[in-house]
Parts: sequence; C-alpha cells; structure tokens
Amino acid sequence: MLIKAKNKPSQALSTVINEIKKGSRDSRHPYRYVSLATFDPAAEEPNIRMLINREINKDGTVTLYTDARTHKVNELKSIGNAALLFWHDHHKVQVTLKAEVAIHNDDEVAEEYWKSDVHGAAQKAYTPLVAPGERIENPSDAHNWPKEFTSEYFCVLKCVPFEMEILQLAGKEHLRLKFKRDNPEEEWQGDWIAP
Ligand SMILES: Cc1cc2nc3c(=O)[nH]c(=O)nc-3n(C[C@H](O)[C@H](O)[C@H](O)COP(=O)(O)O)c2cc1C
Repeated sequence: MLIKAKNKPSQALSTVINEIKKGSRDSRHPYRYVSLATFDPAAEEPNIRMLINREINKDGTVTLYTDARTHKVNELKSIGNAALLFWHDHHKVQVTLKAEVAIHNDDEVAEEYWKSDVHGAAQKAYTPLVAPGERIENPSDAHNWPKEFTSEYFCVLKCVPFEMEILQLAGKEHLRLKFKRDNPEEEWQGDWIAP
C-alpha cells in the first residue's frame, strides 16, 4: 500500500506527488497517463481524454503537452479549470486534482520545452497539416506534415491544482484524503475524509 492510516496527510501527499513524478519519467509507470476533463460551455458538455504526464513539481503542478488547435485548448480558453485523474492499478491509488490551467503557446515557456524535450519524430505530434478534430475523407489525409517542423502549434498546459484528493483502496477499509489551498503560494491543508 502506498498510503497508510498512520501517515500524516502531508506525508501521504508527498508520497503521491513523488509517485506521479516517477510516472512522468517512466513510460511503463501507471501514472504515466492522466485523464484530463474539461467543459465545453457552448455545447454545455463535459469532455475527457487521456494525456501523457510530462512533469509534476513539488507543489503538484502537472505539465502536459498538446496541439494548440485541439478542442481541449479551446475549452480551456473559455473555462480555465480542469480535473485530472491518475490511477495506479498495482498500488490501488486514485489521485484527482482540480486545477487552474495556464496555456503556453508561442511563448518562452513553450519554446523552452520544445527545445529541451521535443525532438525528431516526437515533433510530428504537434505539426500535422490538418488540425486535430477536423473532418477528413480518408484517414491518410491526416498523415501529412510540412517539410520543416516548427513549434507554432506546440502547447504546454501547466495545471496548477487548488484541490487534490487521494483514495487508497484497501479491502473494506479504504483511506481517503482531501487537500485544499487558496493559492499556489500557500501550503496545502489536508484532512482525512470518509471514503
Ligand atoms: C495513451 C494516450 C496518450 C495520449 N497522450 C496525449 C498527449 O500527451 N497530448 C495530447 O494532446 N493528446 C494525447 N492523446 C490523445 C488525446 O487523448 C485526445 O484524443 C486528443 O488530444 C484530442 O483531444 P481533444 O479533441 O479533446 O482536445 C493521448 C491518447 C492516449 C490514448
């Protein structure tokens, strides 16, 4: 078990953040993937999809990469809050975050990640000629790229959490914690809550 009843809430939180960090560095780790839920205000519908966890820092800010032309980016421009979900099948730990998402495209932050972390064929994910989500006649219509890859559509999402929950499944005696903070400069306030 990753989380134990004798842990302090702050201990449980740093254990989980550390595990999510492992996921950002290991493609076989269950926390390598995160579900990102957003809300489409025009359609009045929620949307959810899987992304790769690229990085998490000490305070829980999760970094994701995407194409600036995707639906999720448009949604986040309207409603900047999102929910994130991680699930560790072996340790049986669910982690959920509610976060304010900062969108970085065509700025210094995006440029820095592009230069340091997105090389060669990996650039193809952010450079197709046809924008993600556009209707096409044939699947192959989407498999076209420009001669040179640029960072024009490369987008870094910085998900700064204001609430986090941890659920450790454990037989019939599950453990659950909730953390809150009013702004990212503050310490997390965490409590055990009934599962
Ligand atoms: C395992 C897995 C990992 C994925 N990783 C990413 C990712 O890191 N970034 C991304 O933009 N899309 C990723 N996708 C694709 C998204 O789930 C989604 O289909 C795409 O981004 C379009 O989403 P949207 O139209 O809701 O914006 C991944 C899909 C899967 C199944």
